[in-house]
Amino acid sequence: MSELNGKTVLLTGASSGIGEALVEKLIARGARVIGVARSEDKLQALSEKHGDFFESRTADLSEQQGWSTLVESLNVSPDIVVLNAGTCEYLEAGSIDIGLVERVFEVNFFANVRGAKVLLDKYQDSLKQFVVVSSSARYLAMPRGEAYGASKAALTYFFESLQLSFPNIRFSMVHPGFVKTPLTDKNDFDMPMRITAEEAALVMANKIEKGKLQINFPLVFTLLMRILGMLPASLRYKLGRGMVKK
Ligand SMILES: NC(=O)c1ccc[n+]([C@@H]2O[C@H](COP(=O)([O-])OP(=O)(O)OC[C@H]3O[C@@H](n4cnc5c(N)ncnc54)[C@H](OP(=O)(O)O)[C@@H]3O)[C@@H](O)[C@H]2O)c1
Repeated sequence: MSELNGKTVLLTGASSGIGEALVEKLIARGARVIGVARSEDKLQALSEKHGDFFESRTADLSEQQGWSTLVESLNVSPDIVVLNAGTCEYLEAGSIDIGLVERVFEVNFFANVRGAKVLLDKYQDSLKQFVVVSSSARYLAMPRGEAYGASKAALTYFFESLQLSFPNIRFSMVHPGFVKTPLTDKNDFDMPMRITAEEAALVMANKIEKGKLQINFPLVFTLLMRILGMLPASLRYKLGRGMVKK
């Protein structure tokens, strides 16, 4: 029997892409999912499909009160939390749009920090696992990735540091490469080794089940990103500048 059988999983970003695919994998292993997103219609469709195994909560997590209202509405303590909701916007090369940077950080960083505060204040004695979806973008500076990459690097650092004070909870950091979802469908550049959301969700469910601390996939792509990230700065900059579109 799966380790996830009978567990309650609170999953943000359940309405689309990786999160939506993960709902299927978790429920297939006997977990009960409380799925969070803004799109009520998409969550409703998942409720209709999965019956008692899926409960929906509509929330804009970038709003100050989003997390407190959400947690007040829960009538069970989650065993596992998956902070997956996220957004991606790229800066134009050579210009800094402060509004864009703030928007990306609100969803990818501050919303998750607020979530951690509210959830740990209430559930730190019962919560078993905290899964945080960052990105392999955090390993290497990419052109136009200032806001997205920095928000994910900050996210990884924050949670790797936070977990040091919560030794009884397993924190799993997820660093995906490219996954085909509405988030990457907008991209106008090559996305090497891109996998499907289904493939991503399968790896995630397997590793969450095993309580892995680092969940990196696809393996070869994320390994390459980590190796490139360790090159001397002069080489990394040369490589990155070569990728800037003229
Ligand atoms: N796809 C990739 O290649 C890739 C690579 C590395 C990391 N990631 C990370 O994986 C996670 C999932 O991404 P995805 O590719 O599956 O993207 P996606 O299909 O665009 O899904 C994003 C999810 O986040 C939710 N969301 C966004 N803003 C929200 C807000 N303010 N409040 C509540 N929910 C919000 C969306 O729901 P609503 O719109 O309904 O609110 C949606 O369910 C993200 O954290 C992303 O950064 C993705």
